[in-house]
Amino acid sequence: MTSVALLGYGVVGTGVVELLERNRERLRGNNSEDISIAKILVRDKKKHSNKRYSNLLTDNIEDVFRENIDIVIEVMGGLYPAYEYVKRSLSSRKHVVTANKDLIAEHGKELLDIAKDNGVTLHFEASVGGGIPILKPLKECLVGNEIKEIKAIINGTTNFILSKMYGENMSYTEALALAQKLGFAEAKPESDVLGYDAGRKLSILSTIAYNKRIDWKSMNIEGITDIDELDFVYAKRLNSNIKLVGLSKRYGDKIYAAVKPMLVDANSTLGRIENENNAIIIEGDAVGEVVFSGKGAGMLPTASAVFSDLMDTFQQRKEEFLFNSKIAELESLWDTQSEWMLRFSGENSTQIISSLHESFSTCTTEINKISKDIVEVVSLVKVENERELNKRIGYIQSCGKTSFVKKFRKL
Ligand code: HSE
Repeated sequence: MTSVALLGYGVVGTGVVELLERNRERLRGNNSEDISIAKILVRDKKKHSNKRYSNLLTDNIEDVFRENIDIVIEVMGGLYPAYEYVKRSLSSRKHVVTANKDLIAEHGKELLDIAKDNGVTLHFEASVGGGIPILKPLKECLVGNEIKEIKAIINGTTNFILSKMYGENMSYTEALALAQKLGFAEAKPESDVLGYDAGRKLSILSTIAYNKRIDWKSMNIEGITDIDELDFVYAKRLNSNIKLVGLSKRYGDKIYAAVKPMLVDANSTLGRIENENNAIIIEGDAVGEVVFSGKGAGMLPTASAVFSDLMDTFQQRKEEFLFNSKIAELESLWDTQSEWMLRFSGENSTQIISSLHESFSTCTTEINKISKDIVEVVSLVKVENERELNKRIGYIQSCGKTSFVKKFRKL
């Protein structure tokens, strides 16, 4: 009998129990062993008293460690106390499966090392892309490739909000309120809307892909809180959509890694990913581009990934996997020729347009009257790299009463 403890019995934990039950017969058919849940750690036992296995609930972690547990499934989320519990589980030779991206982005290296030292495994497929199989394919199926680039929509909440702004012309505030009402966005959505959640997931993907540690806090991260209706009006005129994209790219020995709202062709793979769905495009030097897409969050999709890790652990498909101790040198600015959509505002559109044409050889412009005295000039420009772009934006601003509003790179 393999004995399992569940830390957390919220949405994902409930899904994991559901999948265990659904698959129990099949498991029995394939193996002589069975999986039994020994304890379920929760904060408030009363809240879960009507659920299956309520007899196994405890609010005391010591009750979990007193049991003879083989595999700990951590689905409580957040850094604390999950970090302490996972560390203690691994140190006492229990395998761990976790869905916790904050934990892996922050302490993945240390925890994988502890797992190795104790001869146990730490799996975390559900930490990126919810139900989308991505970490295992990246580690195993793409192992013969040098990964060149990752482009990803890896936050369901922000993609839902942006989809509503694009498809139903909602304002950011209306779309966020709807996301909260439907349960996609948390009551405290900062980590999602400021791009931190996507940053953590991109750091996990990139650390595996480039075999160097990418610290999410050193990445260039921008959320969606400043995106307004006009951005979508202008994007649509360019046949584009706006998506929060996590992008990392190998530049020689350096890695560019950033999360930013970007302009994507409305009919492209990323442009068509709607609502809470996620998509990850990986470019390998041998395979070319491969696309992984599907539900990036939710009860059963996330549980599907946790369950697959549980099966790998249960069936002792042992892999030795560690995060490299070498920390990647990050490039913070985009270093390749690209198109950018720029917004400037001021009183004199002729002057803004003339300084735009002076600064960029390839440049289209459009004027939008915002009020009696203020116009916006929206422009699509082509430029060698972001450093050069910033220089020229500075020049345009210096040519009189012109304010720079924002810039979007076109993917
Ligand atoms: N808050 C996350 C999202 C949940 O919106 O994608 C899944 O990690």
